[in-house]
Amino acid sequence: MSAEQQYSLNGILRYEWIFGPGFLGYGEPDVTRELISSLDWPPGIRVLDVGSGLGGPDFLMAAEHQARVTGVDLTEATVQLARERQQELGISGVEFLQGDIRFLDWNPESFDVIWSRETLLHLPDKEALFQKFFSWLSPGGSLVITDYARRPGRGSSEFEAYVQESGYPLLELDEYARTISRAGFSDATAQDKSAELIRYLESHLNKLEKDKDAFCRRFSVEDYEYIKGRWQLKRDCCRQGDMKWGWFLARKPGSESFPVRKDI
Ligand SMILES: C[S@@+](CC[C@H](N)C(=O)[O-])C[C@H]1O[C@@H](n2cnc3c(N)ncnc32)[C@H](O)[C@@H]1O
Repeated sequence: MSAEQQYSLNGILRYEWIFGPGFLGYGEPDVTRELISSLDWPPGIRVLDVGSGLGGPDFLMAAEHQARVTGVDLTEATVQLARERQQELGISGVEFLQGDIRFLDWNPESFDVIWSRETLLHLPDKEALFQKFFSWLSPGGSLVITDYARRPGRGSSEFEAYVQESGYPLLELDEYARTISRAGFSDATAQDKSAELIRYLESHLNKLEKDKDAFCRRFSVEDYEYIKGRWQLKRDCCRQGDMKWGWFLARKPGSESFPVRKDI
């Protein structure tokens, strides 16, 4: 399945039903707030959000931290919906661009933070991407990523079929951090947040079951079975230790003062 198929209009809206208005990522808006709290975010900080989805995290950064955010997303449907949501909320300081991050470019030092949640799982050559991120960041700038990862070696046949069918070229957690470091970043850390992901998946499954009729009325029985099956599979692959959820933080060497990373 290609990312374009996965994030069709119907695909995005049924994800949003699960994740909450404006969000396509786990644990929102708490996770965005927690990640932001790991850095000092001076007003006016320039953020690139790679795979910005419906823009929920970007609106929060702009509204609560006066950030200036550029959100990039692959699909026209997602970008259009994000722009509509921005108009409805009347939020300024955020702009959305449609494009594939692999083929976009900015001048060196255009951003102070590069942020990406549950998006890089779609992309095979992460090292080439991290080299571009390194160039686009200002000295002292931060890289903030949450993403799927995998255990070392082969996983169960269900897991291998899931990542193959989904087109997810996943890295091991430690290899992910080493790949970030090879692009020139310092202090690259990988945190294993798989236990939290299992809790989010279970709570989504409970919500799906409890509100099954409403979900099926809004979408369809086929959508319900599809999403439930994917969520159960992810939960089981995490429980077996094949699939991991990683939080990755790193800094571009240079200025110590902007933005400064705190420990989380
Ligand atoms: C799971 S969603 C996460 C959205 C958002 N980060 C959030 O947390 O709400 C992944 C997003 O990445 C986008 N995406 C996938 N591949 C991409 C690429 N090559 N370039 C830009 N965006 C991409 C998809 O269209 C989708 O909106």
